[in-house]
Amino acid sequence: MKKRILTGDRPTGPLHLGHYVGSLKNRVLLQREYDTFVLIADVQALTDNFETPEKVNKNILEVALDYLAVGIDPKIATIVVQSAVPEIAELTVFYMNLVTVGRLEQNPTVKTEIKEKGFERSLPLGFFAYPVSQAADITAFQAALVPVGEDQLPMIEQTREIVRRFNTLYGKTLVEPEALLSKFPRLPGIDGKAKMSKSLGNVINLSDSADEVKKKVMKMFTDPTRIHANDPGHLEGNIVFTYLDAFDADLSGLKDLKKRYQSGKVGDVEVKARLVDVLNVMLDPMRARRAEYAGNKKAVMEILEQGTLRAREVAGETLRAVKKAMKIDYF
Ligand code: TRP
Repeated sequence: MKKRILTGDRPTGPLHLGHYVGSLKNRVLLQREYDTFVLIADVQALTDNFETPEKVNKNILEVALDYLAVGIDPKIATIVVQSAVPEIAELTVFYMNLVTVGRLEQNPTVKTEIKEKGFERSLPLGFFAYPVSQAADITAFQAALVPVGEDQLPMIEQTREIVRRFNTLYGKTLVEPEALLSKFPRLPGIDGKAKMSKSLGNVINLSDSADEVKKKVMKMFTDPTRIHANDPGHLEGNIVFTYLDAFDADLSGLKDLKKRYQSGKVGDVEVKARLVDVLNVMLDPMRARRAEYAGNKKAVMEILEQGTLRAREVAGETLRAVKKAMKIDYF
């Protein structure tokens, strides 16, 4: 039997290049080698969007289209809608016993999010506990591997702790997963901030048009010390080059461009034009696939329904094993 992969995304908006280099690309590359489950985490999305459920509802289809556009093949991989797998919610409740408030408070990703959202004493319990529900996502499928960006490492660590605790207390039942980081686990935003993030408004979406991509790249910061095209340019902290490193497959062409840039023989506009080109060459086939599926939304919903059905079988098996181990399999 193939080992399993589980990853997912909150459906709160379109997926962007940061998602792509951090995790999506690995999922596409590994979908033949692993039995891959991709989770549209709408229950998790509701933990900080419960007042605007229409936003989550609308983005189920958007995220599904992003998945299909990047090349997740529904004939091979299984796309799952989290809320339609109640087994995950049940597992979450059982795992709650195995995690302390003190431990959750130390989760760096949750800590940052709590601060960013300014929750203070009105922190919703559901949001605070989402790492536990994420452990249920992963273990419901007995996933061995979880391709993620850097910011998700604390979630995988939390999951591993829950698994070890469960297996020690109740007997070996759950698979302890490992995180798979990409070569570029974090892509900076187009504003130069450390992270590309929808809430920071510094993203290039996978669904952006060629024109939008061009506009965004042309606005990117380069080397602030460089005034004229014939001043020697710097590569450190120059995000246009960071992006070229992440996306440009023509390594010798890129090396040559860097050399010319450092010796003041090439202007910013040429470097940016190259990045626009590289991105659009990558995004064009995604745009074509997206358009195809977007024209047949019924077929996309059918893919989600079939995937979710299969997911319930797998998660059901895990839940049965968990309940047996916990001695609550009465009937
Ligand atoms: N927390 C992830 C994010 O914000 C989304 C997610 C939900 C996830 N369930 C998961 C990621 C399981 C990996 C595995 O992007």
